[in-house]
Amino acid sequence: MSVTKQVTIFDTTLRDGEQSPGASMNLQEKLEIAQALIDLGVNVIEAGFPIASPGDFEAVQQIASNFRGAQICGLARSNDKDIDRAWEALKQSQDPRIHVFLATSAIHREFKLKMTPDEIIARAVAGVQRAKSYCDNIEFSPEDAARTEPDFLCRVVEAVIAAGATTVNIPDTVGYATPGQMGRVIKNLVDRVPNIDQSVISVHCHNDLGLAVANSLAAVQNGAGQIECTVNGIGERAGNCSLEEVVMAMRTRSDVYDYETTINSKRLVPTSRLVSSITGLEVQRNKAVVGRNAFAHEAGIHQDGMLKERTTYEIMRPEDVGFADTDLVLGKHSGRAALADRAKQLGFTLTGEQLQSVFEEFKKLADRKKEIFDGDIAALIDHEILGISEEEWSLVSFKVNLDYQMPPKILLTLEKGGEETTVEQAEGSGPVDAAFLAVKQITGVEMSCKEFHVRSTSLGYDAPGEITLEAEHAGQIYRGRAISTDCVEASIKAVLNAANRILAANRKSVNASEN
Ligand code: KIV
Ligand code: ZN
Repeated sequence: MSVTKQVTIFDTTLRDGEQSPGASMNLQEKLEIAQALIDLGVNVIEAGFPIASPGDFEAVQQIASNFRGAQICGLARSNDKDIDRAWEALKQSQDPRIHVFLATSAIHREFKLKMTPDEIIARAVAGVQRAKSYCDNIEFSPEDAARTEPDFLCRVVEAVIAAGATTVNIPDTVGYATPGQMGRVIKNLVDRVPNIDQSVISVHCHNDLGLAVANSLAAVQNGAGQIECTVNGIGERAGNCSLEEVVMAMRTRSDVYDYETTINSKRLVPTSRLVSSITGLEVQRNKAVVGRNAFAHEAGIHQDGMLKERTTYEIMRPEDVGFADTDLVLGKHSGRAALADRAKQLGFTLTGEQLQSVFEEFKKLADRKKEIFDGDIAALIDHEILGISEEEWSLVSFKVNLDYQMPPKILLTLEKGGEETTVEQAEGSGPVDAAFLAVKQITGVEMSCKEFHVRSTSLGYDAPGEITLEAEHAGQIYRGRAISTDCVEASIKAVLNAANRILAANRKSVNASEN
């Protein structure tokens, strides 16, 4: 009789995921995602790389202190300073894990580290021992393991397990491996490392060739007991193994992959939406499992088949991954309880105060829009809960004059600390550009717009527009986002959101240098 094996899901959305260009998140956003990951049922949350920045440190510390229900992990290079800092951030956790890494491949040894194989082993062992002096749960990653000579990889793995590593993670750092090869890398360790049974083998695949999910599955079939992945597959360059895809592959093809996870699959779509909305990284429509088209049937022959028997063209049920049965939900007469219930199904647990503020905005939206869809509600909640945390300036009013082929004119009033400031701006290539200039003039924030996206939050000509933009200030990119049924209003609020983030970041760095 075969016994179904449990595979640990190690989520690194907040660490490797955050390394996606343009995806950096503020503290409030990271806490929101950490809660969603707990609700999703992941086993380990890699909350950040504490030595990388004060912001990373604070996020790991807050997550470690406030979240229960998953192990909380912090990343460190294999040196005392990194490991001490990681522990400082993690020590309040009920279930902490320190993740130490050091590159092992010949390319990294020769060009990046300039170290001999023996020096690498000594440094790796010292790192694990240092981490072990703080806690029991230690993961070690030989970075670029998939391109490391198999014999040397065995030596490293044996040495770090002897030093106390409870998980050895095998990264395909550059996404170069193929499924057959990844399977062999793991099998080689299982067959040849004498103390391998004292540690869990993990796999961490990047997606440069689009093989991260396939490679992770091959690793599991050959003995790995942990998969490292991210929501929506976000991460460095082409990203990491996608959590929703790898979990649903194992669940849907349990005849091939006889493994279980603790993931509540109904939370996959809400979590995907939340991560997309926070990071500004849109999910492609045809993305497996969570894309908008993943369960949409267009061809007549498919629709006909679906009506006769769903399984003719569907291998998973949309409701099992968290798509709502019907997208059309609330209207003008819906009450607070219905809104709270819908919000919950979409992945948000609102406090009484948050519910009240979202409800007020919902009523305003319902006055302007007949049918309110899930996308509208998710966008409203995001905006209300996540957008307000660091707002210094807020919009009071604006008036735009537009004449054909004439520069637009905007009269903009913003408020800060009870005081209002008004400017009139009569320049810019369009109303959005004029608004950008006016916000810069009032707030005094120097920034230039690098990306600007407009997206409808749901269906219908009256659907609110969601504006997301990236503004550059002092060499750094800051995101701004807002929604409104009026695109000019949403644009002004999105620019303001970016300006407020810049001001908050500047305040933090002044405080840090004063301390
Ligand atoms: O891709 C990689 O090698 C990593 C390690 C730090 C695990 O992210
Ligand atoms: Zn990685």
